[in-house]
Amino acid sequence: MRTNQRWVLAGAILLVLPPLIVAMLTMSHWSRASSPSPVADIAKISVTIPPGNTAKAVNNSAVSFYKDVVPVLQRNCQGCHRPGEIAPMSFLDYKSTRPWAGLMKNAVLLRKMPPWFADPRYGKFANDRRLPEADLKTLVAWVDAGAPEGNPKEAPAPAKWTAGWKIGKPDLVFEMPNAFNVPASGILEYQYVVIPTGFTEDRWVQMTEMRPGNPAVVHHANAFLRPPGSQWMADARPGVVFLPSAAQSKSGIAGRDEYELLASYTPGMQPWMARPGAAKLVKAGSDIVLEIHYTPNGTATTDKTKFGLIFYKGQPERRELTMNTTNSDFEIPAGAPHYEVKSQYVLGSDSELVGTMPHMHLRGKDFSYKVVYPTGESSTLLYVPQYDFHWQLYYSFEKPVVMPKGTRIECTAHFDNSPNNPMNPDPTKNVRWGQQSWDEMMIGWFDISIPAKTDPGNLYRSQKSYNRFFSWLLWRR
Ligand code: HEC
Repeated sequence: MRTNQRWVLAGAILLVLPPLIVAMLTMSHWSRASSPSPVADIAKISVTIPPGNTAKAVNNSAVSFYKDVVPVLQRNCQGCHRPGEIAPMSFLDYKSTRPWAGLMKNAVLLRKMPPWFADPRYGKFANDRRLPEADLKTLVAWVDAGAPEGNPKEAPAPAKWTAGWKIGKPDLVFEMPNAFNVPASGILEYQYVVIPTGFTEDRWVQMTEMRPGNPAVVHHANAFLRPPGSQWMADARPGVVFLPSAAQSKSGIAGRDEYELLASYTPGMQPWMARPGAAKLVKAGSDIVLEIHYTPNGTATTDKTKFGLIFYKGQPERRELTMNTTNSDFEIPAGAPHYEVKSQYVLGSDSELVGTMPHMHLRGKDFSYKVVYPTGESSTLLYVPQYDFHWQLYYSFEKPVVMPKGTRIECTAHFDNSPNNPMNPDPTKNVRWGQQSWDEMMIGWFDISIPAKTDPGNLYRSQKSYNRFFSWLLWRR
């Protein structure tokens, strides 16, 4: 190489090298910044996989999409991750799944997906969605192996999904008589509409499914049963959407014991089904009071929510009721990181507890249900250590919990009103009960089963006197 050639080469290297280094630095910075996953946290999570797992031993080099991953997705993910369902991307085929591989690993290791938030140390649930360890191991091994496609011939038959009603064709559908106009923006109070059932005899309901007309703007919907003769919102014109008077809405959900919940919708919730041999009772002449919370999403639209029923064939042995224990009398101080609010319910007759659903808003941190038996013994039934407002889940017990008369259901909630809570709308505000998500709620919903012929009034009666005394004595702050 001649001297002047060497100079040209050195000059070229000097010219090219700095921008190259800069480019490399920026790229590594970008890739770090664009990854929404807390990688550092994931490294800290140790996933214990019991030896002798039921699934075939996963050999990293052999694991492939079609053979190993599709069955896992069918069992655990495609219920939501397919076109037309609530998840934004489909995991039906390799092409649409592959870009998500990295995030899938994060999501399953952090237990963000599938959405299921019960601490596995407590309670056994019939609708448990927690990813089994063997399936988790398969997914992670696949991602670690570079998410290989494999041979399509090794894929199982595609899972069969029913479009539309998950409960099958309903025997009867109640729908809002008119579409409701949801504005593009603004805050809407809960909307109500009374729909008479027209039932001339008592009917037993085995399954219900609420289907929002427009899931993009329906935050939640509840169908309450108003028994004949009730004065609750008695002045409302049937079929016309209305806002209840201040006095009516002030009572909140507390004090509505007499008004059972027949059907409800929250994101991620499965349809309601009674246990075998059990059903909910709709008395002749009852009305439905449908409550809908709309959250405008930037585009003016309409909604016509409906819900379907499957009737019980014959006479059930047991009756199920959805009840709640609520504390609406709290004030969470600004900035408080772990504020406790409790509620409780004493059951006035022998009953069985079949399911629970904690409800809080954006400052909700954790929630637990405990039963305290008349003997003084107690047991934790559900603990949700990291409550997620966007997933209002129902936890159905594998075996009903037998509760003799006088058993107390105790709910304990903690709220994080500090700046450490990324969901906190405003850590500088004291927060009280209210309908909007920047207000708070503390409701422990629960489903009870009693012999079909028992008067549920007995369940409530002792509760009322108890409430008056103890809400004053214990829970007042
Ligand atoms: C009950 C419905 C449901 C099930 C079951 C479910 N997902 Fe999701 N998933 C969603 C929804 C809705 C979103 C978007 C909103 C969100 O991120 O919470 C989502 C988001 C995700 C994301 C993106 C999360 C992120 O960090 O951006 C990943 C990855 C994911 N799901 C993987 C899975 C995997 C893997 C499974 C099965 C093992 C699964 N999901 C099961 C509903 C579901």
